[in-house]
Amino acid sequence: MTSADTLLRAIADPASRADPYPLYDDLRRTPVVRQEDGVYTVSTYWEVRSLLNDPRMSSETRPPAVGTPGPSKSFLRLDPAEHDRVRRIVTRPFGPPHTPGRVFAMHDGMAGAVKGLIDAFDGKDAVDVVDDFAYPFPISVICRLFGVPLEDEPRFHLWTESLLGNADLGTGAAPDPKLMDAETAKVEMGTYLAELFDKHRKSPGDDMFSALATDDGPDGRLTPPELVANAFLLLIAGHETTVNLIANGVLTLLRNPDALKRLRDHPDLVVPLVEELLRFEPPVQYLPNRRTLDDIEVCGTVIPRGADVNLMLAAANRDPNRFADPDRFVPDRPDVQHLGFGLGIHYCFGAPLARMETRLALTEFARRVKNPELVADPPPYRVNPVLRGPRHLEVSFRSLKS
Ligand code: HEM
Repeated sequence: MTSADTLLRAIADPASRADPYPLYDDLRRTPVVRQEDGVYTVSTYWEVRSLLNDPRMSSETRPPAVGTPGPSKSFLRLDPAEHDRVRRIVTRPFGPPHTPGRVFAMHDGMAGAVKGLIDAFDGKDAVDVVDDFAYPFPISVICRLFGVPLEDEPRFHLWTESLLGNADLGTGAAPDPKLMDAETAKVEMGTYLAELFDKHRKSPGDDMFSALATDDGPDGRLTPPELVANAFLLLIAGHETTVNLIANGVLTLLRNPDALKRLRDHPDLVVPLVEELLRFEPPVQYLPNRRTLDDIEVCGTVIPRGADVNLMLAAANRDPNRFADPDRFVPDRPDVQHLGFGLGIHYCFGAPLARMETRLALTEFARRVKNPELVADPPPYRVNPVLRGPRHLEVSFRSLKS
């Protein structure tokens, strides 16, 4: 049997990005493995799920990998009670109970943005679904939501790509010369965000960053460094993942023409379909950010206190002990409790927004783009093994429905 270390190196290797799933199958044979470097990797559904809910697991104490995006003290990297305080403050202008209508109020604007992007396919016979659709759509949504001028998008596109593409995640890939080094990108983006919060403080709009900069709720206001740290998190978590879910969605539909036809004929299918997509092709493949606060026994192995742990969401999502026929995409799979948004106290903050965006994007694509076909399968992938998705997705088509 291949050793766990060889498997993990193979998973990080860019050559495996198009199809890491056979490697995850091998990894699950040993639900808990200790790598040579002392890091533990957990890959089976019930075990990952239980650790996501376990208060003895910390997201705070594990030092971020070199080049990991952003300052480390966003609420993603905090434990209770600090985590809960900051998450409450950031939730206040985003969702219930204080702002229950924020995401829903964006629905019509989002539908218009999707329509506009697909209208622009007119007259072409092929598009890059990443560059022409999956990327610009969520970007326009989060710029509007957070109060980031859309014209600044190319700058933070370069910063986020540099943070993610050139992050040291053990891929062995040479740094992309078109990108900045991760540390420079982090400094420049931090300066930009601090200035943006100053502007919003002086002249607030109806966006989330203005609310965070000015609003004094029951938990008080975030300090300027906290604002910047959490803005990094929101901007990066808020767009790369959704881009990948939409691109993975189009790719999966084109590989499963029955599902595409069913979605076209029954748009309501999109609700379970997007959940199945989050199981089948999760944009966050694993969480490399946990550390044990105590000895924890998992499947007969004691993970000692202070150990670093990787939680393999994508492997867990295809665990045959949880999901029947896990390698099949079943758009209306019953009981699809995937781990694509994580679970427990760090459960994805932006899940309602990501769901709405992806549902709109996939139903419109299915309805309007006639006879779409993949130009290359598999498509080229981004280097990052954690935030996995196609770099480009060339799709040809015959015509466009209005
Ligand atoms: C398809 C899109 C998305 C996926 C697959 C996704 C996935 C995830 C996952 C797996 C986590 C858990 C991380 C952990 O436990 O360490 C998470 C947390 C988070 N996500 Fe998302 N996300 C998506 C979209 C978004 C969007 C649109 C936003 C912002 C509007 C967002 C903001 C966050 C934040 C702030 C956290 C940290 C929550 C906490 O630590 O309490 N995400 N996301």
